Amino acid sequence: MELPFDGAISAFYDTDAPEPVRNAIRRGDKDDILDPSYPYSERMPRKAYEKELKSLQIELVKMQAWAKDSGARILCVFEGRDAAGKGGTIKRFREYLNPRGARVVALPKPSDTERGQWYFQRYISHLPAAGEIAFFDRSWYNRGVVEHVFDFCTTAQREHFFSQVNEFEAMLAEDGIHIFKFWLNVGRAEQLRRFLDREKDPLKQWKLSEIDVKGLARWDAYSAAIVENLGRSHSHAAPWTVVRSDDKRRARLAAIRQVLLHLPYASKDPKAIGLPDDQIVGGPEIWDV
Ligand code: ADP
Ligand code: AMP
Ligand code: MLT
Repeated sequence: MELPFDGAISAFYDTDAPEPVRNAIRRGDKDDILDPSYPYSERMPRKAYEKELKSLQIELVKMQAWAKDSGARILCVFEGRDAAGKGGTIKRFREYLNPRGARVVALPKPSDTERGQWYFQRYISHLPAAGEIAFFDRSWYNRGVVEHVFDFCTTAQREHFFSQVNEFEAMLAEDGIHIFKFWLNVGRAEQLRRFLDREKDPLKQWKLSEIDVKGLARWDAYSAAIVENLGRSHSHAAPWTVVRSDDKRRARLAAIRQVLLHLPYASKDPKAIGLPDDQIVGGPEIWDV
């Protein structure tokens, strides 16, 4: 089988990746944490992860029952660089939920008609209704980061976005929607390792795109866009939760825990939820360590 990105990522690794990144990947085992700034030297052991995940998923089931009974609306936005783990985190949230009330929203690039609309317009029909939890795998924040890095929007369009986004989200919050915005933060070596893994796996091809390949050389442009985006859209009504995601397991647990801690569902079990790990999860200030 010919794979569409056969070789593009290994070619980048061989010739263009910064030396420290290449060294980290070369030295690292699949189970090693590669980023020296990551607060733990090892990944979370599988057994401990599965145990914690299970108790959190039981709480999620109670939370969904509460949402159905009370008509609560919950919006979880997942953002992050390519391969940060957005899809995998959403999958763990939804694993034991009734899919009818737990929708994933992963919109394709805007059509010509959508390009002629108010930028937020196409997202609005996908916002949660009473009793629903909507998981956005990417969102309007494309305009703050990826569209900017790839020149899919003008500077004026991006400024216009920033002038509206906080007010837009404040309106949703004021209307009673519970909003969670996650920024999953992956280090450069870990991202490249995940791409290399996807490149050679015939089942993970859909997770790779032209944008991912071209984006490899734009790490610093992304970094600058991300800092600005987080700074300008971290609001009281809709704050960012940054999750260090080099270890997928800790990242998934931290995201689920964050949602559970902030929702007032019935028969909440604080012991099952546990406490947030402030080494893994925080506000935008933990991004630039
Ligand atoms: P993903 O990481 O979501 O699997 P990609 O890495 O291919 O997808 O693209 C990243 C984001 O950029 C997606 O949300 C996609 O819709 C968006 N995008 C791609 N091309 C364009 C474009 N020409 N204009 C606006 N957005 C685009
Ligand atoms: P680098 O991978 O060294 O090029 O990192 C680019 C930027 O992202 C730097 O400012 C790093 O401190 C930051 N960074 C990288 N990985 C992480 C991480 N896991 N958590 C927080 N910040 C990170
Ligand atoms: C992720 O893993 O972060 C996304 O769901 C897929 C991607 O952007 O590569």
